[in-house]
Amino acid sequence: MGRGDLSRSQTRNRVATLQPGCSLEPEQIVHLDESFPAVVLLDQRRLPDEVTYLECRTIPELADAIKTLAVRGAPAIGVAAAYGMALAQLRGDDMKEAEQILAASRPTAVNLFWALDTMRDDPTPQRAAALHEEEVERCKQMAAHAAEVFAPHAKALTHCNAGGLATGGYGSAVGALRAAWERNRLQHVLVDETRPLLQGARLTAWELEQLGIPHHVIADSAAASMMARGDVDLVVTGADRIAANGDTANKIGTYSLAVLAKHHGIPFYVVAPTSTLDPATPTGEGIVVEERDGTEVTARFPARNPAFDVTPRELITAIVTEDGVL
Ligand code: MRU
Repeated sequence: MGRGDLSRSQTRNRVATLQPGCSLEPEQIVHLDESFPAVVLLDQRRLPDEVTYLECRTIPELADAIKTLAVRGAPAIGVAAAYGMALAQLRGDDMKEAEQILAASRPTAVNLFWALDTMRDDPTPQRAAALHEEEVERCKQMAAHAAEVFAPHAKALTHCNAGGLATGGYGSAVGALRAAWERNRLQHVLVDETRPLLQGARLTAWELEQLGIPHHVIADSAAASMMARGDVDLVVTGADRIAANGDTANKIGTYSLAVLAKHHGIPFYVVAPTSTLDPATPTGEGIVVEERDGTEVTARFPARNPAFDVTPRELITAIVTEDGVL
């Protein structure tokens, strides 16, 4: 098998250490190593127990890493795909085929398709690194806007992981929590466990621990009673795709939270970069919701496993992007 063969398997794992209390730098989450070459990912499937790096040297390996959630979260998937296109060019791959393989990895996060479009005319390592940097910058800007909606010493609830891991650095919903914490506007965070793959309990809790932000993990089903007891002042989540009318796809369970928040009179905010906006899809009905393998829910019985749901716009208090609070 020669250079340019997309199917050659060369994935490597590497164990690393992170200083406790340090937040992740963008290149620690995903980067392109031009010397192998490989897209190098912090393997999110193994967190928080192991800090392991996955070196994806081929496009099918990278697509598999996206499919199996080694790298996940809408903006981070886009960033990884951008580095993937640069990797394909360095390898001398067929660029159309590389794009098709990456586009087929996950259907819901529009950032994947946005990144592939953005990279088409200039699939260089420099363009991919610039896209990564711009995405992190967008996160910082929207976090600053979002911090303004927190009342002083607010108690927040978040779902899934919309942190640095999910965005390639800083975070969207977690970025907002971070900015609010720095401005003394945040007291405490309730972290939904986020069944079935526990992005909240494994990843958000780990990131909040690294950032020193007080938090407790709750079972997803505990959200209603926490709201009823007055333990939640606002809900903040990220998004995978925002339709033109404001309907928003995010991790399964987000819609239920928005209904609960409405019932309890609690504001519900979506924090996402403009790369998550999909003006070509008029309403949430047009968003493809990924259905994952039922064994992620239970291996004992037949199971359904929709990975996302769509929250209707009328349940969302505001969508915060780098352009401000909409
Ligand atoms: O299946 P995942 O873990 O990729 O789902 C991620 C989410 O639902 C996030 O909330 C979303 O991508 C926003 S990340 C800033």
